[in-house]
Amino acid sequence: MKQALLELREKALQELKSALEKRSAEELEHFRVKYLGRKGLLSEYLSKLPTLSPEERPAIGKLVNEIKGELTGGFEEAKASLERPKVVAPLTDISLPGCLPSIGRSHPLVQTIQDIKDIFARMGFQVVSGPEVELEYFNFESLNIPPDHPSRDDFDTFYISDDVLLRSQTSTVQIRVMQKQKAPIRIIAPGKVFRPDTVDARHSFMFHQIEGLMVEEGVNFGHLKGVLHIFAQTYFGPDTRMRFRPSFFPFTEPSAEVEISCTLCKGHGCSVCGGSGWIEILGAGMVHPNVFKAVGYDPEQYTGFAFGMGVERIAMLKYGIDDIRLFFENDVRFLSQF
Ligand code: PHE
Repeated sequence: MKQALLELREKALQELKSALEKRSAEELEHFRVKYLGRKGLLSEYLSKLPTLSPEERPAIGKLVNEIKGELTGGFEEAKASLERPKVVAPLTDISLPGCLPSIGRSHPLVQTIQDIKDIFARMGFQVVSGPEVELEYFNFESLNIPPDHPSRDDFDTFYISDDVLLRSQTSTVQIRVMQKQKAPIRIIAPGKVFRPDTVDARHSFMFHQIEGLMVEEGVNFGHLKGVLHIFAQTYFGPDTRMRFRPSFFPFTEPSAEVEISCTLCKGHGCSVCGGSGWIEILGAGMVHPNVFKAVGYDPEQYTGFAFGMGVERIAMLKYGIDDIRLFFENDVRFLSQF
């Protein structure tokens, strides 16, 4: 009889489990009637007790009561569980304050380029771009840079093959634009340039430039000065002064190095400007007739000016950053300040 009772227990538990899994109240009630009801199987066993020998009776009686207790407990639990709504996902406490995901932002150099673009866009300059991997022709030859010029040396340019290189200046885009378009032209071309410089606080093997080019009949040096003045005073503030110093670039004639009054000491002289009160921000000049000839423009008909500025340098001056490497280290403590 003990064996039969143990088997009954096993079977009953299985049925209970199945009723619970199906969440069937009907099956559960069926279970109750079948095992625990007044005329149920366990009652039946209890009523058989008197037929057992006096030695067997207490042990079987105890077992029947234990099983009854277990099944009753199981049934109550199952019933309660069926009455509770089924919880599919863990409950979320919607009264808790939310946690904001950290939102990224543009890199300070991207912001600087954008600010500069905005200023030139208001003067009618269109934004264009050119390839970073360039032909030697666009980087040097077409820009009137002779084969023996020091910048064409292996030590000053990253060569990929004899005539393919990483552009060392955005002036390449002047040629690409003039090859495709007729004058009048007013463009700026932001982008990366590469030079095999040793990395330190002021140099990097990769940096950004913004090239500018304006070509039209009658464009003169005064237009160049006017455009750059507007740029410097809009970007660095209305008190900014500017000066042009004679310089040399093979693709402009005359050429100038353009300096602004030091943004830190306002021209009084400090460590950033080396005590002079002036800081160079770009190279510029009137487009050389040989450059016009290289793209098939008539230098007698058209004149133009070009300039090229270093974006990192301009951002460093604007924000008082003293190490160019900060731009490229991706340290969020630095980047999140912009
Ligand atoms: N390409 C020159 C440089 O990288 C800058 C420049 C651009 C000068 C256009 C004159 C005109 O130094």
